[in-house]
Amino acid sequence: GVEAKIAPSMLSSDFANLASEAQRMLHSGADWLHMDIMDGLLLAGRFKKWHFVPNLTIGAPVIESLRKHTPAYLDCHLMVTNPLAYVEPFGKAGASGFTFHVEVSKDNWQELVENIKAKGMRPGVALKPGTPIEEVYPLVEGNNPVEMVLVMTVEPGFGGQKFMPETMDKVRALRKKYPSLDIEVDGGLGPSTIDAAASAGANCIVAGSSVFGAPEPAHVIKLMRKSVED
Ligand code: DX5
Ligand code: ZN
Repeated sequence: GVEAKIAPSMLSSDFANLASEAQRMLHSGADWLHMDIMDGLLLAGRFKKWHFVPNLTIGAPVIESLRKHTPAYLDCHLMVTNPLAYVEPFGKAGASGFTFHVEVSKDNWQELVENIKAKGMRPGVALKPGTPIEEVYPLVEGNNPVEMVLVMTVEPGFGGQKFMPETMDKVRALRKKYPSLDIEVDGGLGPSTIDAAASAGANCIVAGSSVFGAPEPAHVIKLMRKSVED
């Protein structure tokens, strides 16, 4: 369906108080908790080499810990070079959604989707701002389809970046083709960008800095929900 799902990105929370930050968001009206999994630097310094993104965040042990504190839907976004290696540990840890990137899954997305479902998780596919939308069509149309497409609206790696409006063409194309698909947007969403995303057809909204930085997160969540539902 195309219900609104508002998903605060826990990357902007106080990681040292993750359980209470999660409760705070759920009490503020969040539907999902968005968990950003990043596999970090390979070689820092002058070589500037990294795995999928140049930042290192959290892994399955943190999901497992958080799961003990909440039954909430944990929307896991895996910005990692080898997502298949994370399926089993995330399934065991209690992840709800498992969204992998199409850029690193050209050869094994069918195996990935099968494994994600076998572990009781909901499969999603994400794409970076520079990746053409056509690349996810086979994953949405196959006989074992993904259940969500995450259109990145910033370059993956960090919270607090500026929304890229040009990515809305991809959201529009997806929504036109798939009226009932869950379409998630992630990066730079907040009161000033939500209408662009919602009118393009996004229904799952990730927001980190705009929610955690607000004096009243419930207001921001409510405003974004209204934009999607109207
Ligand atoms: C970026 C992450 C996002 C990020 C969003 O790589 O995927 O989920 O935390 O944060 P904001 O809303 O601050 O752009
Ligand atoms: Zn994310």
